Amino acid sequence: MKQRWQVNGINLALIICTFAVGGSLCGFAGRKLLELTGLHRGFLWVLSYIIVITLLWPFCVLLISVPFGQFSFFIKYLAKIWRLMSGNKSKPVSVAIFASGAGSNAEKIIERAVGSATNNFRIDLIVCNKPGAGVLLIAEKNNIDTLIIEKEQFFRGDSYIPALQERGIEFIVLAGFLWKIPVSLIRAYPNKIINIHPALLPKYGGKGMYGDKVHETIIAAGEKESGITIHYVDELYDHGNIILQVSCEVSKNDTPDTLAKKIHLLEHSHYPKVVEELLQMQNSR
Ligand code: GRF
Repeated sequence: MKQRWQVNGINLALIICTFAVGGSLCGFAGRKLLELTGLHRGFLWVLSYIIVITLLWPFCVLLISVPFGQFSFFIKYLAKIWRLMSGNKSKPVSVAIFASGAGSNAEKIIERAVGSATNNFRIDLIVCNKPGAGVLLIAEKNNIDTLIIEKEQFFRGDSYIPALQERGIEFIVLAGFLWKIPVSLIRAYPNKIINIHPALLPKYGGKGMYGDKVHETIIAAGEKESGITIHYVDELYDHGNIILQVSCEVSKNDTPDTLAKKIHLLEHSHYPKVVEELLQMQNSR
């Protein structure tokens, strides 16, 4: 259950409590309403009771989810039930995030997947090449499976590709994954791998251009603006078709650190949105 709903143990307990208390409230309110009608117990009463509690149930669980702090889970849960009932059975796209750093972008994308009522994607796997990376803790916190890939396996073999496909992974989001993506993976996922780069490509991209190195070079070059680039991944470093660029000012007083903070803010507010919009388009095809 924890895995299916991507929640931790505490949230699962609170969700079960919401179901239990919301259900009881619904039954209680249903009986009180029927008392007002003066109906006698019998077939008609049972039929009316079933109709009344079916209508009341969503309101009762939503109401109870507020004090239990589970409103965002239940609004999404009810939206999903509604979609299924109205015949829209499109499954969320299964996404793997490849990351090897702190994982702040991965975290924001997971939050978007879990919190979004559109439910058009879910993060099913975090692929990482660095044991001990912060992103692994984020995966653990959110009950998401992880796959640690070793260099040899990544560049010389492609046994991990069937592993991704067997898990049903349909789309790959790179969020601070520093290795160049091998052609075999690009062929297995054509136009289904995207990356974010902390500069306005084509400037300040390519091999070795990552992390603080990018910001240091931009400041040393006296640039007046920097920004982020979200792009499809092709065989070259930081090269594929650009999906979105957003810029920010580089002021005289900026240091690599302050610039990195500005860039991270831009990344967090745009990357999850772009992932959701791309997968919404993919889902509606
Ligand atoms: C981001 O700045 C991203 O642009 C780059 O790697 C960094 C990852 O940061 N590709 P985080 O691990 O998501 O905090």
